[in-house]
Amino acid sequence: MVELLRGLRDCLYAEAEMHGPFVPVEPLNGFAKRITNLIPSENPVRALTSLEDLRQYVANVTLIPIDAARTNAVFGEGNPRARIMLVGEAPGADEDRLGRPFVGRAGKLLDKMIAAIGLSREELFIANILKSRPPGNRNPEPQEIAAHLPVLYKQMALIQPKFILCLGKVAGQTLLNSKGTLGSLRGKIHDYHGIPLLVTYHPAALLRNQRWKRPAWEDLQRLQKLYTPGIAPQ
Ligand code: URA
Repeated sequence: MVELLRGLRDCLYAEAEMHGPFVPVEPLNGFAKRITNLIPSENPVRALTSLEDLRQYVANVTLIPIDAARTNAVFGEGNPRARIMLVGEAPGADEDRLGRPFVGRAGKLLDKMIAAIGLSREELFIANILKSRPPGNRNPEPQEIAAHLPVLYKQMALIQPKFILCLGKVAGQTLLNSKGTLGSLRGKIHDYHGIPLLVTYHPAALLRNQRWKRPAWEDLQRLQKLYTPGIAPQ
């Protein structure tokens, strides 16, 4: 019996070395099924079954020219079972250097924003629309977004968040398939394939313009009310 258990343990360790730590695959919920249907059937990410396999795919593939120019892909990080997923725009210079999302000045502010509503990075999953840094931090091109979006969809399908917060106009417009201004997208709860989605200011924008801090705080409080049982959202 002990031998059998040791064998099982060794198999799990060997598996973890190849594919990352074992995270049980949840059966697809309705949201995950709807999101998976947004991924073109011929796209290879459709067949992947773990975040670790998806991470490896992103690290090794060149889908668009900026993928070849990056120092590191920025896959995203956090809790693989996160109830709340944050979606930014694209990595900047610090993120490209370290391969982690929101680690520069905007990231420091983001940490304060999430702490202010009682959350930490460890309980969230933070990802971006693009996984590679656009040169000079220019806005992502539509064809770059189209090439990388299936990866984000797959992240969502595997994580199965209950709430999504978009950081900035690019993330909000992309997920809501809208050309609306940030002002028109924020301040409401959108239905995103069956789960609530909110849009707020990008932390980099808040560093540039103090006047947006109050409305951003209102957005965060709206999110907090949504995920805190017993507090009715407005
Ligand atoms: N801005 C983003 O949108 N994402 C990052 O990861 C960093 C800065």
